Amino acid sequence: VSSGIRGVSSRSGKVEKLTVFGAGLMGAGIAQVGAQNGFKVILSDVTDKALQNGLNIISKSLSRIGKKTQPDDVEGFTKGIMDNISTTTDAGEAVEEADLVVEAIIESLKIKRDLFGYLDTKAKAGCIFASNTSSLSITEIAQSCSTERQMRFAGLHFFNPVPAMKLVEIVRTTHTSDETYETLRSITEQMGKSPVTCKDTPGFIVNRLLIPYLLDAIRMVERGDATPEDVDKAMELGGGYPMGPFKLLDFVGLDTASYIAQGWREKSGSGGISEEVVKPIPLLDRLVKEGKMGRKSGKGFYDVPKLFNSPTF
Ligand code: 3HC
Repeated sequence: VSSGIRGVSSRSGKVEKLTVFGAGLMGAGIAQVGAQNGFKVILSDVTDKALQNGLNIISKSLSRIGKKTQPDDVEGFTKGIMDNISTTTDAGEAVEEADLVVEAIIESLKIKRDLFGYLDTKAKAGCIFASNTSSLSITEIAQSCSTERQMRFAGLHFFNPVPAMKLVEIVRTTHTSDETYETLRSITEQMGKSPVTCKDTPGFIVNRLLIPYLLDAIRMVERGDATPEDVDKAMELGGGYPMGPFKLLDFVGLDTASYIAQGWREKSGSGGISEEVVKPIPLLDRLVKEGKMGRKSGKGFYDVPKLFNSPTF
């Protein structure tokens, strides 16, 4: 791990400056891996409280890594990387010098489009825009930008917990240029991640397969076929999964899973997702309504320790 600024070369210049919007779990994780791997990072959100929350997530994760990799100087290790991250609530200022913008704010098409439309007028012409959305169409988000920017627009989908999960899905729209795609591949590799490529389809690769599996697990428990504990044990010991579906649901957030299913329901038929797969699940709806979102709210299928107040996801 280095805290020196290196960056990635692309045909149009060096990518050194990364701006991340959204200081929730995903945004904080993306800012962290950028800073850990030589990028100068600006983390931006709408309030100072949200930014402080993001910095807390990052420093906690870095001390966990430091304890293993640099046990003699965990504080120095953490500080060296945190020094690569600055924060601002001013979105325009955040992108003035950025080479790459990664957005990980609330999953609202309108709010994302408003943000990118504004950033398009503030960022350098060569700056690449990327969204970490897990449920929205990259093409529809990118339409808020100029035609030139749409060529420099793609999905960059990280996985939770970002510092530990190796995968990044690079989502190409029909407008994403080869140069943008190649630059994003180099950047994700420099961040120590392994990229895969996908068209702009619902759920991309991982969620397209994972969400139906998670929803089916809830239906299994709802029918009374097995307990969450036994389903988890079965998939961990019999399926080789690091976490069973209910631990994973608590981990990613029941609201997130429900939101993705709802988005697909509204677009049912597209991307080959059948109505049967995404039909509402009363048990899931009830838990979400009761505020049982999993780890982020302290209760889900299990009583799980509350992580941080995460205003964005
Ligand atoms: N920061 C830094 N490092 C972390 C970390 C964090 N927040 N969380 C875990 N790690 C590291 C640990 O330090 C450890 O590193 P090491 O191998 O170098 O020692 C490694 O990850 C494994 O952690 P642990 O030993 O503490 O625990 P586990 O072996 O149980 O692994 C886990 C934890 C990585 C979370 C594992 O249980 C796992 O892979 N779970 C499944 C997670 C998953 O499927 N995520 C994808 C969800 S879907 C998604 O995000 C898409 C979205 O759109 C919904």
